[in-house]
Amino acid sequence: MKVYLDNAATTPLAPEVFEAMSPILKSNFGNPSSSHFFGRKAKAIIENSRRNIATHLRCKPAEIIFTSGGTEADNMALFTSVKELGAKRIITSRIEHHAVVHTAEHIYKELDIDIDYVRLCRKGNVDLDHLEDLLKDSPKTLVSLMHANNEIGTLLPLKEVSLLCRRHGALFHSDTVQTMGHYTFDLTELDIDFVTCSAHKFHGPKGIGFLYTNSKTSMVPLIHGGAQERGLRGGTENIYGIVGLSKAMDLAYSDLIEHQKHVEGLKNHMIREFEKHFETIEFHGEISKEKSLYTVLNVCFPRTDKASMLLFTLDLKGIAVSGGSACSSGSNKGSHVLEGIEADMTRPNVRFSFSRYTTKEEIDYTVEMVVNIFKHNL
Ligand SMILES: Cc1ncc(COP(=O)(O)O)c(C=O)c1O
Repeated sequence: MKVYLDNAATTPLAPEVFEAMSPILKSNFGNPSSSHFFGRKAKAIIENSRRNIATHLRCKPAEIIFTSGGTEADNMALFTSVKELGAKRIITSRIEHHAVVHTAEHIYKELDIDIDYVRLCRKGNVDLDHLEDLLKDSPKTLVSLMHANNEIGTLLPLKEVSLLCRRHGALFHSDTVQTMGHYTFDLTELDIDFVTCSAHKFHGPKGIGFLYTNSKTSMVPLIHGGAQERGLRGGTENIYGIVGLSKAMDLAYSDLIEHQKHVEGLKNHMIREFEKHFETIEFHGEISKEKSLYTVLNVCFPRTDKASMLLFTLDLKGIAVSGGSACSSGSNKGSHVLEGIEADMTRPNVRFSFSRYTTKEEIDYTVEMVVNIFKHNL
C-alpha cells in the first residue's frame, strides 16, 4: 500500500485539471503577445481564466498577477512594498515560510530597512497586543504574516490583523498559499494589500500561482522583460498552467464544504487514534477546527531511540509524510517553525497532511504502522 500524507508539500494533479490542460498543450501554442489569430486565442484563454479566478475570490481580474508560484508572489509583495510603496520596516514572524523569511532577511541586508519579529505563543498564534505595540508610532511598515502555517497548521485571524494594520497605516501581506482553495476568500470585503497563491497546493499544476494586489496599489515588477501582466511580470505566460490553476480552483470551490467535512473527519479520527495508542502524545500548533488548517496535523510522539529513523521507516512501509525536528525526509534537519515555537526537539515530530483524496483506510494503515514502529519494534 502506498499512502501519500504530504499534501502540504504538494498535492496530486486532479484528473479534471489534466483534462482541461491537455488540449491547451496539444493545440494552443500561440504566444499571447502575438497579434495574429493564434496569439489572440491564447490571450483570450488567459483572460478568461483570470476572470474566473477573480470571480471565485471576489476581486477584480486586473488585481491578479500570474507568477511562477507562491515563492515569486511572496517575493513580489515584499520587494514592491519596500521599493515602490515606501516601507521602511517589515514586521513578520519567525515561523513564516522561507519564501518570506529569507526574502525579508535579504531585503534587510540589501536595502537598509528594519525587521521586527512579532511574539508568538507556543501554539504558533501571533501575539496581537505585541503586534499592535510594534505598530504604534512606527515608520511606514509592511506586515507579512501567513494565513496558515504549513508545518503546524495554526491559522491567523486575517480580518483582525488587517484591521490592525489599517488602523496604524501599515501595508499587509499574507502568504495564503496553504489556504487558497481550502477556504473561501472575499477580497472585496477583506482589506488587505497582498495575498499569494500556488496551484500545486490544491491539485493544480506546479510552476503557476499569482499575487493578488489591491488595484489601488502601485506595483513594480520583480522580473523585468516584456509587457506581460501589464508590465508587472515579464516572460511569456504559462498558458496551460493558468488554465490548470483556474480549473483547480473551480474544483476546490465547487464542493468545498464536503471536502472540508471529509478532511476534518480524517484529521479528528487520526487525533483520536493516536491519543488512544499513546499516553504522552502531543500536537504542535492549534488543532481545533476554528484555529487550525484542517489539512495539517503535526504530531509530537514520545521520545524514542528510533526517532532519527522514523520517517525513513515510514517511507519503507509506503507512507509519505514529512518531518519536524528529528528529521526531514530521512535526513537530520531542524525545522525553523518548531524552533520558532520552542517545541521539544528531542521528541520525534511528524507532519501528516491530508487532501480530499485521502481515505480513512489510509489513515488507519498509517496509525497501525506508527504503532508497530513504536510499540512492537516492527
Ligand atoms: C506557506 C507557503 N508559502 C509559499 C510556498 C512556496 O510556494 P511555491 O512552491 O509555489 O513556490 C509554500 C510551498 O511550499 C508554502 O507552503
